[in-house]
Amino acid sequence: MTARIIDGKAFADRLRAQIAGKVAELKTRHGITPGLAVVLVGDDPASSVYVRSKAKQTVEAGMASFEHRLAASAPEADLLALIAKLNADPAVNGILVQLPLPAQINSERVLEAISPEKDVDGFHVVNAGLLATGQEAIVPCTPLGCLMLLRDTLGDLSGLEAVVVGRSNIVGKPMAQLLLQQSCTVTIAHSKSRDLPGICRRADILVAAVGRPEMIKGDWIKPGAAVIDVGINRVPAPEKGPDKHKLVGDVDFASASAVAGAITPVPGGVGPMTIACLLANTLTATCRTNGLPEPSLLEEAA
Ligand code: GUN
Repeated sequence: MTARIIDGKAFADRLRAQIAGKVAELKTRHGITPGLAVVLVGDDPASSVYVRSKAKQTVEAGMASFEHRLAASAPEADLLALIAKLNADPAVNGILVQLPLPAQINSERVLEAISPEKDVDGFHVVNAGLLATGQEAIVPCTPLGCLMLLRDTLGDLSGLEAVVVGRSNIVGKPMAQLLLQQSCTVTIAHSKSRDLPGICRRADILVAAVGRPEMIKGDWIKPGAAVIDVGINRVPAPEKGPDKHKLVGDVDFASASAVAGAITPVPGGVGPMTIACLLANTLTATCRTNGLPEPSLLEEAA
């Protein structure tokens, strides 16, 4: 079997176009422009690239983008003061503090300081709790994007065996909650799980979010399964020349794509969905704050 490739880039392009349409409608009908504030502390090159890309796509969707940069040495109090200002600013509907933060800053305190209604990353404990109890939450962007791709690929997920490899607050745990909401039978596996290959082999849906390059091999996969690879790992690529690198996922794509029914590539799979879902969350937060009906993006982008 050769797996169908799940084209996350094309899906994300459609989703962003759909969001841009809804943003334009908000402006003409209600005079509202959604605003997203992104805060970067320090000058980590990878984070700077992410932040620039977020700002560009925010503007392309017709939203207002506010970028705030603090020095790498900034005290936590300065960041908390900025968050308080953004919480109170009616032009700001979404706040994202780029992670990781420098060592002198306590990330948990910072994330809890963001107003849950503006927490478009969905990392606040209130949003995590709302998701876990099946209430209206803001859902973390990467798992939301994975769910959209799965729904688009498989339709109804009810009754399927889902295995999530990885238990982070950002991907693994919220992913498991979302799959449970879809009536999957969910297992969260991790580095201490016994017989990880055997657990993975049970999965109709396998979500890999461990951050280990090409760890999941083709013979860990049930024939015909849908495989969602969240990993983005930069590894040496001597075949391309000295000092060259390439991006690979947590799944060994060559062997896995010979067994799976459908699989996301890296790059071009889950990655592009994350920023598209950040824009979707900003639009959702704007609608909720203004008491307007929420766009049903999950179904419509498919
Ligand atoms: N750093 C890398 N990815 C992310 C993300 O999705 N959100 C935040 N806040 N920081 C990140």
